[in-house]
Amino acid sequence: MQHWEQSGYEPSLPITEKSNPITTDIDRADPNGIVQMLEKCDAEMFQKTVHEDSMYQKLNSCSVIQTMVDISKKVEMILKDPENSLIVLSGCGTSGRVAFLLATSFNRWLAALHENQIYSYIIAGGDKALLTSQEAPEDNPSLGALMLDKVCSGKKHVLFFGISCGLSAPFVAGQLHLCLNNLEVFTPVLVGFNPVNMARTELMRDFPSNFRKIAEKMSEMQKHQRAFVLNPAVGPEAITGSSRMKGGSATKLMLETVLLAGHEAMYNKTAVTPDGELALIEMNEKVHKVTYSKNKKLAALVQKAGVSLRGKGHVYYLGWQTLGIIGIIDASECIPTFGAAFEDIRGFICRGFSEINNKEGDLSSEGLHFSISHKDFVKRILPSLSDNDMVIFLFSVHDDLNEVSELAKCVGHNTSNIHALIHDLDGHCVPDSIKGLFMTALNITWPSSLYEQRSILMNQHWELSTKWCLNAISTGAHILKGKVYKNYMIDLRVTNSKLYRRAIGMLQRFTNSTQTQSETALLKSIYFVEELTEEISSADVTQHTLTANQKDQVVPTALVMLQTGCSLAEAKSHLDAHPVIRDAVAACLRLS
Ligand code: F6P
Repeated sequence: MQHWEQSGYEPSLPITEKSNPITTDIDRADPNGIVQMLEKCDAEMFQKTVHEDSMYQKLNSCSVIQTMVDISKKVEMILKDPENSLIVLSGCGTSGRVAFLLATSFNRWLAALHENQIYSYIIAGGDKALLTSQEAPEDNPSLGALMLDKVCSGKKHVLFFGISCGLSAPFVAGQLHLCLNNLEVFTPVLVGFNPVNMARTELMRDFPSNFRKIAEKMSEMQKHQRAFVLNPAVGPEAITGSSRMKGGSATKLMLETVLLAGHEAMYNKTAVTPDGELALIEMNEKVHKVTYSKNKKLAALVQKAGVSLRGKGHVYYLGWQTLGIIGIIDASECIPTFGAAFEDIRGFICRGFSEINNKEGDLSSEGLHFSISHKDFVKRILPSLSDNDMVIFLFSVHDDLNEVSELAKCVGHNTSNIHALIHDLDGHCVPDSIKGLFMTALNITWPSSLYEQRSILMNQHWELSTKWCLNAISTGAHILKGKVYKNYMIDLRVTNSKLYRRAIGMLQRFTNSTQTQSETALLKSIYFVEELTEEISSADVTQHTLTANQKDQVVPTALVMLQTGCSLAEAKSHLDAHPVIRDAVAACLRLS
């Protein structure tokens, strides 16, 4: 049994908010150590329940597999009546981005078969949130319900996947609530990684229920197959609470498995069985092994990315097809996760908006954050690119290798710091002449026998493998830059209620203060005042998070105040003297 599975381990926190014992010292590890810890953390997704006394069901547990089978059969039923039906995937942040990726890729499959494209996605904050962090809509249950209602108008049957890794997002709760009140149309599936009894109980704005009550009701309805809860435990995140990592990967592979089995039942007449679903999951476990078998090369990329960020350089991902989307997603997550500047890590995809199939179309007029094509990169970034910047190409043997080679030569004129993550197949490899254009080529050659007749599976695996590599590179680089303290991202932006609660929890943990003391210090830091006014004390969490959104170093400032008993002004000057947050926090905790 893992340490975090014991009942006494951080008992007040749900699994997704616990700290992972594997990564306690990740902030002091070298690139090889970082990658090894991430490998172990990700491996927890595939761990089996071997101990009878484990309180948690895992991805491979019979109960979870049976739920997946039942949902796949619903997918098959929906596919039989495409005129009247819809499959909707929805979530906030990374969960919404995964929803988008899955909906668009299964729609592409249907289009290739000349079938109706019955998938739709919803992301809190709309399509802008695919590329930038829009945290506040996550707290709005009515908005979630409204968006779902709009998408489903006129449909007779809707299979709805509400994804919230922490079983916590009010936006998703609002949608599930709508479904439960309209079960003649909706079959809701709640996807997350906590047991139902750990779902959030906090009251929500203008909402009659809470997440846990909804999850409990869904569990109850599961007995009649009217609703489903798909919630295996995959262990705490490598960086505490950062559900972009394991949460995103597990959502992706679990839902791909469920949807693929449903599609194969419909179009290939392959029966949906527990063994079939289990085999698909085991293939993803193989992808994990194959990807991390390259850990030395991956660590070298982490090292280079760390050097670039520390030297105020940048990391650019230039990707093709969905690997480009994985790059864009990874880059966009660094802003809220690490308080990174938007220029620090950026992703680009070959033809920009014309190939990502998002609902709202071309957003490039919305500003620089939305310049995402290779042309944009060549026009805006290339002229000022230097060896201080790192460029990573993301492509497979199925992409236009002439295009890859031309762009690589072009980039190579300005920087030698150019690398590639390449996927190919035995018997169909990327030629050495292309690989030779890069300083490092992390090349994974996959067995073609795995993918006969199942090219969608191949894409899914290459995306997941790329996600693991990029998560390691961007997380590792920020660790090396000193953004992480132990395995906590202490300088997070407190932009919604979940993050507000997480911030208070961290302050309590590191300073041994009470909840009230921690919240008071946090509010002083958010509002930049030495004493709280009546107006501040009586404002609600939404107001606090809106104000916090504009401020830097909110949590570290509160931490220094609590730990040393100093004023806000003194805390600020302590932080100014230590530009590296990890050192500032460590120095302050040592001092006291
Ligand atoms: O709001 C911050 C955040 O934690 C994102 O990083 C995450 O992707 C999103 O919330 C959604 O979280 P969940 O899937 O647990 O609802």
